[in-house]
Amino acid sequence: MTEVVHVALGNRSYDIQLGHGLLADAGGLISQIMDRPKVAIVTDATVAALHLHDLKTSLDAAGIASSELILPPGEATKSWEHLTQTVEWLLSQKVERNDVVVAFGGGVVGDLVGFAAAILRRGVRYVQIPTSLLAQVDSSVGGKTAINSSFGKNLIGAFHQPSLVLADIAVLGTMTPRDFLAGYGEVVKYGLLGDADFFDWLETHGPALAQGDADARLQAVKRSCQMKADIVARDETEKGDRALLNLGHTFCHALEAATGYSDRLLHGEGVAIGCALAFETSARLGLCSQEDPSRVREHLAAMGTKLDLSDIPGDLPSAEDLFGLMGQDKKVVDGEIAFIMAKGIGQSFVTRDVPADVVKGVLRDALNR
Ligand code: GLY
Repeated sequence: MTEVVHVALGNRSYDIQLGHGLLADAGGLISQIMDRPKVAIVTDATVAALHLHDLKTSLDAAGIASSELILPPGEATKSWEHLTQTVEWLLSQKVERNDVVVAFGGGVVGDLVGFAAAILRRGVRYVQIPTSLLAQVDSSVGGKTAINSSFGKNLIGAFHQPSLVLADIAVLGTMTPRDFLAGYGEVVKYGLLGDADFFDWLETHGPALAQGDADARLQAVKRSCQMKADIVARDETEKGDRALLNLGHTFCHALEAATGYSDRLLHGEGVAIGCALAFETSARLGLCSQEDPSRVREHLAAMGTKLDLSDIPGDLPSAEDLFGLMGQDKKVVDGEIAFIMAKGIGQSFVTRDVPADVVKGVLRDALNR
């Protein structure tokens, strides 16, 4: 069964199609938005080995010619070097203004290819076919595209909405358990930030979903996409509500910087830890009850995600230094850090009014836990 979530953005509106085995229908679905039967696919070596054959078979069956560029997997690919390589390759494939580029992979490929599509001939259309849980529920939706700089992650980019997103739940079956659970950090974020019923549902169905329950996976990805689509439709370029999607991310960015953006901490793992810390901070500020952070922690523990700072291998800096790294976040304005706090599960809001001492106290206790 195919589910559809619509992202309502005027003349930049598009559909997210979700389904089990959807890759087999990719050719037919993409053909509906193309002017001529030819696409350029950009992917990485891991995804190519597992799924490129299926995608190309589907495109062939729909009479669509395709060529592909296979990039190295990993965060280091979100670089000027690979952006140049991608754009030059797309030009070598004679991709024209009305053609469609396909970003086939996880968050790295989606962000890089989306940015290449944004600048190629001042903007060409692209289709996101996200292959990781994190990309399906977050990075492939909403049009944020970027590469990294030596000054930080995602600092060079553009808002450029895809024309179509195809999320095949079956491909999640080839993810490692660690990568899958890291993506789950972004799923649980949606319940925590704006939908208490979804969080209840995740408490019940989360373990089955992690074990591979296809319907539970489909429902979780669909609800996450619906929430993201609603928020992006209200605030495409993050002037307000879109910042809610950063629940847990201010803590996460400090932890990622402290661990050198390495394998010690995956982004989604940092989001899960960050959500627990954001709820702990909210409780200490008297914004929510003490039961809320306990419930968040219990659920993350039941799922087996990273939860405590002691779950991160190796040494971490002091609470003071971690707080200093939070000040490097790109949401800082006039030196003030934007925090997403919560009045309860599903009731988050943006505030700059969080005393530094409280945050440092939360970090100090988390480091000693
Ligand atoms: N990942 C956060 C956003 O798309 O705004």
